[in-house]
Amino acid sequence: MTATHTQLASHADIDGVRLRLGHPDRLPFRWVGQRDVLDQLLAAWFVLDERDLPLNPRLIGKPGVGKTTLAYAAGEALGRDVYIFQATMDTRPEDLIVTPVVAGAGQIEYVASPLVTAMIRGGVCVLDEGNRMSEKSWASLAPLLDARRYVESIVAGIKIPAHPDFRICATMNDDASTFEIPEYIHSRLQPQILIEFPEADEELAILRENLPFADDQILGYVVAFLQRAHAANEAFSVRDGINIARYAMKLSQGDRVRSKGAFETAVRMTVGEEAVDHVE
Ligand SMILES: Nc1ncnc2c1ncn2[C@@H]1O[C@H](COP(=O)(O)OP(=O)(O)O)[C@@H](O)[C@H]1O
Ligand SMILES: [Mg+2]
Repeated sequence: MTATHTQLASHADIDGVRLRLGHPDRLPFRWVGQRDVLDQLLAAWFVLDERDLPLNPRLIGKPGVGKTTLAYAAGEALGRDVYIFQATMDTRPEDLIVTPVVAGAGQIEYVASPLVTAMIRGGVCVLDEGNRMSEKSWASLAPLLDARRYVESIVAGIKIPAHPDFRICATMNDDASTFEIPEYIHSRLQPQILIEFPEADEELAILRENLPFADDQILGYVVAFLQRAHAANEAFSVRDGINIARYAMKLSQGDRVRSKGAFETAVRMTVGEEAVDHVE
């Protein structure tokens, strides 16, 4: 199945139970620069032989370095549909697998999660910000993430096997605001792919990709700011840079004379007063 959009079946029948399937994400995300991490992710998903299995990598890095973008772009690079599941503290095991919904007149319909939809269709699932999710929810994925490659839906009373083309990766912020993931899950989420801040030329290319209408002057200010912040070990990321550039442009309305002042104001109001220390 390719990402160029043949009609997707809306339901699947598994052991006599009818599941409603979800829709893939179609996002304009493109990965720019840092070819090595894209290659590492695609290698982890590659299968050498019919007795081989894909790996389930985890992408680690600071918030805003591009983890979700990379995972999505890698799925697209395989020509597969991509399904992003946003994990939160409140994600329950059944949210990951199958939830029952009332479909009128005392009828129950079973709805497959984005993850299970990807498993059935042979798509790619991005389990985004996986470290926000509790151990209990992770436990329900243990059989999926080893050689068994299935999940069990307690709610629907079925076992759902993954299509051979199914691939999954988890993204995780390396900040403190998260659950500690148990070792038996960690050992099923390998390899670990670390995404770091980009070099100046790559950072400029990323900003251009995301803000194709932006003036080079503003982008130059932003890249200089980000590079100084990275060197000082600050957590400001590409995402912050995009927001700074966007706001600076809105403030200066294309007036180049005002753009330096607008840039400084945008830094202050986007990432905070102390960040102005890193403005040249
Ligand atoms: N290498 C890259 N190529 C293209 N866009 C990028 C890249 N790195 C970061 N971005 C952009 O930066 C922003 C933050 O990226 P995101 O993937 O959401 O980060 P994370 O998931 O690590 O928090 C997005 O707007 C994304 O498009
Ligand atoms: Mg993300």
